[in-house]
Amino acid sequence: MKKLRFGLFENAQTNDSGTSTWRHPDSERHNFDRLDYWVKIARICEDAKLDFLFLADAWGWADVKGTRPDISTTEGLDLPRLDPAIVGAALIGATEKLGIVMTGSTLLEQPYAFARRMQTLDHLSNGRIGWNVVTTGTAETAVAAFGVPMVAHDERYNMADDFMSLVYKLFEGAWERHALERNKQGRYADPAKVHRIAHDGPYFRSHGFGNTAYSPQGTPVLFQAGSSDRGKQFGGKHGECIFLGGGSIEKLAGQVKAIRDEAAANGRDPNSIKLMSAFSCVVAPTIEEARAKHQAILDAQTPDVAVASYAWFTGLDLSSYDPATKMSALHTELSQTQVARFGDKTVGDVLKDWHAHGVRTNPFVGTPAEIADIMCEMAEGADLDGFLFTPLIQPTSTLDFVEQVMPVLRARGVAASDYEGESLRERLVGTESPILSPDHPGASHRQLQ
Ligand SMILES: Cc1cc2nc3c(=O)[nH]c(=O)nc-3n(C[C@H](O)[C@H](O)[C@H](O)COP(=O)(O)O)c2cc1C
Repeated sequence: MKKLRFGLFENAQTNDSGTSTWRHPDSERHNFDRLDYWVKIARICEDAKLDFLFLADAWGWADVKGTRPDISTTEGLDLPRLDPAIVGAALIGATEKLGIVMTGSTLLEQPYAFARRMQTLDHLSNGRIGWNVVTTGTAETAVAAFGVPMVAHDERYNMADDFMSLVYKLFEGAWERHALERNKQGRYADPAKVHRIAHDGPYFRSHGFGNTAYSPQGTPVLFQAGSSDRGKQFGGKHGECIFLGGGSIEKLAGQVKAIRDEAAANGRDPNSIKLMSAFSCVVAPTIEEARAKHQAILDAQTPDVAVASYAWFTGLDLSSYDPATKMSALHTELSQTQVARFGDKTVGDVLKDWHAHGVRTNPFVGTPAEIADIMCEMAEGADLDGFLFTPLIQPTSTLDFVEQVMPVLRARGVAASDYEGESLRERLVGTESPILSPDHPGASHRQLQ
């Protein structure tokens, strides 16, 4: 079995993933706006030799007719937040090897300024940065806040393709990799290696020099997680590491195959894409203790959060439908994945399910050996490359996982016991150098003339 890769899912807000776990006595997430919270989390990750800390992000809040408008504030549901790129920057100095991956929206960011932000982080971290490319499938409140029009689901991906074409020119083409000479007796940079870019795309335009020189990885490691047909197409083209939402081995195996096929259709090595499934667990030395821990987490939930959170992801207010309505009868232009994943279930089933674990799949509850068994079965059965651990209660869920499950995985030879390779790309994607592999579409933008 291949050696698996591991990341930790985090979110710079009190709650995440549609649950109100902040009320749990062990949760420290209500202090998410303090640097010492983040330094503690980052050090847990680095001590456990996790490959990266992933900072999710979204814009907007639940504000759909029928849901309680005050839920965002009373439950800290998707408000307030911190900027993940700045949290990530603060952690560069607190860590040495850990990859830091942050989410950035192709709908709402300005590509020229965004490229500079990613390159700055990649310079300062010496090549430990990843970017989770999202098209922002959630709230209409987000576009209202930005004062921009809503863009339909598939068109958001066309826009994202255009965003990528422009930032590849800035990451890869504007400054050649060895343009800087820093020679006090000679010159600072070689002008023959600095190029004007020209981009006149359907959505974005930019002309002139890039603002930041080629960074250690050039392009940050590209993460993606869209699982609609158009999302998989985008991921197979651009993604180097793809997050899957979890679920049955059969479902994951189908998604893995579809994304690897898409990569091959784009002339890429299908195995160069790293597929990582989100994974939650409640672990304890005995099954009785694990079940009791899980019950305490369920008891911390607030029922209104389920309705408001589902509405935030999809725009659909499930409380306004007959509970017997089949999910297959509903449609959204927001996150289609969050409707399609429930197949033929009813609205009532989904509300119950969402109340228990929000957008996550059901956590696995068991002893360390049982959890390790499940992870190995999933990885082998679905051809996964690793897992994105999504904790229920921070930091205790992560500590339980790294202290109890990781040692079992290490003893079985499927988890690394130290960092190998310098940059995040070499470690995670397995490239021989820190920059994009030559078969990636971004690499074709190198050395613009
Ligand atoms: C593990 C995981 C993490 C995700 N993190 C984010 C995130 O931080 N921000 C975001 O807007 N979407 C996030 N998503 C959602 C996807 O990026 C995507 O927007 C969503 O699946 C809807 O796109 P689709 O309709 O193409 O599937 C995440 C999805 C998964 C499975």
